[in-house]
Amino acid sequence: NIIMDAKTWNVVVSDAANNTTNPIRAIVDTGRYKPNPEKVVIPLSIGDPCVFGNLNSDQLVNDTLIANINSNKFNGYPPSIGYEAARAAIAKFVETETSPLTPADVITACGASGAIELSLTALLNPGDNILIPKPGFSLYECISNSKGFNVKHYNLLPEKSWEIDIEHLKSLIDARTKCIMVNNPSNPCGSNYSVEHLKEILKVADEYCIPIISDEIYAGMTFGDSVFTPMAALTKTVPILSIGGIAKRFLVPGWRLGWVAVHHHGQFEHKQQIRKAIHSLSQLILGPNSLVQSILPTILDKNNAQINKFFVDVNKTLESHSTFTFDTLSKVEGLAPITSGGTMYQMIGLDTSKFEDISDDVEFMGKLLQEESVFVLPGTVFGMKNYFRIVFCAPLEKLDEAYKRIQVFCDKHRKKVVVTDAGDVQ
Ligand SMILES: Cc1ncc(COP(=O)(O)O)c(C=O)c1O
Repeated sequence: NIIMDAKTWNVVVSDAANNTTNPIRAIVDTGRYKPNPEKVVIPLSIGDPCVFGNLNSDQLVNDTLIANINSNKFNGYPPSIGYEAARAAIAKFVETETSPLTPADVITACGASGAIELSLTALLNPGDNILIPKPGFSLYECISNSKGFNVKHYNLLPEKSWEIDIEHLKSLIDARTKCIMVNNPSNPCGSNYSVEHLKEILKVADEYCIPIISDEIYAGMTFGDSVFTPMAALTKTVPILSIGGIAKRFLVPGWRLGWVAVHHHGQFEHKQQIRKAIHSLSQLILGPNSLVQSILPTILDKNNAQINKFFVDVNKTLESHSTFTFDTLSKVEGLAPITSGGTMYQMIGLDTSKFEDISDDVEFMGKLLQEESVFVLPGTVFGMKNYFRIVFCAPLEKLDEAYKRIQVFCDKHRKKVVVTDAGDVQ
């Protein structure tokens, strides 16, 4: 058959697929560095609290899920925006005095990741831009690249506990800036902003009439005197899409449930438009798993004493790990940890001038893995050279072992101090 012979298959993949790359994979999974086969790998790289099995959700969360499975009431399709009862529970959980919410203001999604995608897609057209933090969570850029949105990075200031450089933020705004992405408490910084600083950010949004997507997936996960304040609590004018979920707070990232809540103070027509846009987009995925939605009325009840105790206990544990990380690594010459106000992350500054054969954070990460089998993420994957991020969820004895190995590694690679015959130190 001549016609068939002449036919060739030419299946090409889409630009969207080609443009969707994860910077973490691109920098870390180059195959260049492999762990030392003689040492057990200690992964302090993945933002998943379940890696070591020491941090588990509360029994009530599991029991509620099991009871709901056995009820056979939650096996059908929920509405694409989520069950009404689930959205009512979220609305109560995240509403603030300045921004009361109804179930219609909330849309559930497949993780906070899904909620971020819905929110960006609702606000931007290809060619529009969004302002995102540097260093910051790589998904914002990943989604934007995939959809043809432009990103502009505003600087966070390590010397000011990672506050936003407000002047820099302002300087990036142009006619096609459609939203400012704020992530508080922050991945990768572990920072938690003060009310004053959040107000400074809101002031910029107000001045230029630009809405904010406030990624608050680490809401409430703060330490000591550092109190989390939702952005929507501090404004009566700036439209806020607040992102949340159960992944981190309830220690169940695999359950894939997140949400976006639309706070649009006093301008009901605009609020309805944004809600309608997100409702339409939610039909593409049809929402998260019905069973996980079904437990929200129980686990998000602010008066549930058992859950409130669970939150306090998890924060205490994470705080002790954070303090241990800071205290231990502060003593290693060449490393400069920055205190975490919350989350499960700490950024560690790296003074490469102290080392003889470590030129940057990526080389530090690679050689540390190769020699000591400790896996950390280089700041470069978050846009911040010569820092690295530690996830401090591992049990304290594992962290201790990892930090001892880091100490050994740094001692080995540190520039040697030579005292000359004349007594000079070189
Ligand atoms: C800042 C930030 N936002 C969103 C997410 C995504 O959360 P989820 O697992 O619910 O999709 C993460 C996960 O690491 C995160 O760190």
